[in-house]
Amino acid sequence: MSVPVLSVAPRDLLRPLDVLQSVHDRQLDLCEWFIALSEGGDVAPVQAERAAILDYLSRELPLHAKDEDKGLFPLLRARCLAEDGVEAILAQLDWEHNEDKSLARELIKDLRAVPEQTGPTETTGSLFGNLHDFGDAQRRHVRWENAVLVPLARKRLQTDDLERLGRDMAKRRGIDWPEPASHLNLGWSSTQSRR
Ligand SMILES: [Fe+2]
Ligand SMILES: [Fe+2]
Repeated sequence: MSVPVLSVAPRDLLRPLDVLQSVHDRQLDLCEWFIALSEGGDVAPVQAERAAILDYLSRELPLHAKDEDKGLFPLLRARCLAEDGVEAILAQLDWEHNEDKSLARELIKDLRAVPEQTGPTETTGSLFGNLHDFGDAQRRHVRWENAVLVPLARKRLQTDDLERLGRDMAKRRGIDWPEPASHLNLGWSSTQSRR
């Protein structure tokens, strides 16, 4: 497996929850791959994809965390009902985001040391352990978001919320927001998300 770049087209951001879901699909694939690499114990495939993995961890992953922390979570706090238990859900996800950041930092340190490796060393051992722990923690986190967070967002967020979320995601990526007329082709209702 390699780490293809996930491109986000301006029009995709008219459906921001679909973009978040696509990122989750990609994250789950990467988690499986990280775990397989850790179990393989061969540093060569890690060296071959080192730059792409570093780019994912240091650029793409923080971008997704910001989409959720600064974009999605505040909207859910504003829109959800008491029966949704959203504060407990978001408190858990906030904690997991911090844990994932910490694991990613450790993994980045290990990956930066990879080119110097010529055999089994202490750093290589740490690399495989951190690849496994990061993949395992991310996989649990993303599966839970897919099972709980995304369905809740689809249920509670309204058209204005989705536009605000999409605009924030576009701004974070330096993408121009598509023409408002594009909304007419996407079947958004006036009060609810698309699903
Ligand atoms: Fe998350
Ligand atoms: Fe996520």
